[in-house]
Amino acid sequence: MVSMRDFSRGDLEVLFERAREMERYTRSGLDVLRGRVMAVAFFEPSTRTRLSFETAMKRLGGEVVGFSSAEGTSVEKGETFSDTIRMLDAYADVIVVRHRLEGAARLAAEIAQSPVVNAGDGSFNHPTQAMLDLYTIWREKGRIDGLKIGIMGDLKYARTVNSLLEGLSLFDVEIALISPEFLRPRQETLDYVQSRGLRLRAYTRLEEALGELDVLYVVRIQKERFLDPLEFERVKGSYKLTAESLRGAKDDLIVLHPLPRVDELDASVDRTRHAAYFRQAAYGVPLRMALLSLVLS
Ligand code: NCD
Repeated sequence: MVSMRDFSRGDLEVLFERAREMERYTRSGLDVLRGRVMAVAFFEPSTRTRLSFETAMKRLGGEVVGFSSAEGTSVEKGETFSDTIRMLDAYADVIVVRHRLEGAARLAAEIAQSPVVNAGDGSFNHPTQAMLDLYTIWREKGRIDGLKIGIMGDLKYARTVNSLLEGLSLFDVEIALISPEFLRPRQETLDYVQSRGLRLRAYTRLEEALGELDVLYVVRIQKERFLDPLEFERVKGSYKLTAESLRGAKDDLIVLHPLPRVDELDASVDRTRHAAYFRQAAYGVPLRMALLSLVLS
């Protein structure tokens, strides 16, 4: 599971139905992966992705090994990425990998016999987050087709946005891209999703698009991915969603965010009926239970 581009709409529908069933077992557990081992190889920080994968595996009766930073592993002694993956492949039935370099998960998938799940590589792909984002929309709105979806923030470096756009191109939706000029998505992604029929419009200000939207997806500025610190300074603080700025939104607009938030999503939004991002994060467990059960059983 390296890229959203590897998945069809039918695959996602199967996944969503399974995740909906798994919601019943997020506390009680379901013993379908007893004796199976998942390795987490996280070379980059994570809270939700790693912990929801681990929780999902444990709720399914499986076991977890791995690391949450290269510190403390033989990478510090100079071991290569390939050798590390080879070892995990020998120990585990599935490998979940996160890395700061684009293409790391693809490389891992080429090396390993076991299935590899990309939990984020550089600013490129984060397919399981996109699945979770799509699931949240499907779950909260009852459908994806026919919706108007705004995506606001750092559309250039946020890997969740790249994967989400690829996933949305499987549905009949209209997209408003809201960002400073400089933070528009990479051209290759735009070409790809438009060739698949996704309708896109670009805005620089939220007010221009807000009134029409059913979903507003916000991402933080991905400070760590900027090549030039001066570029970051130019766009820092350039957008911020507050309860006030949501006046004029549809009553049933939902606000999503992959989290973590920094300053682009104000805590005042938490108290509005629009806030759906904590439920979104919670769906991470049933969604990943569904994924792991489909991959391993
Ligand atoms: C995202 C990521 O790591 O790309 N976080 C996540 O997985 N929920 C988003 C981000 O870091 O901004």
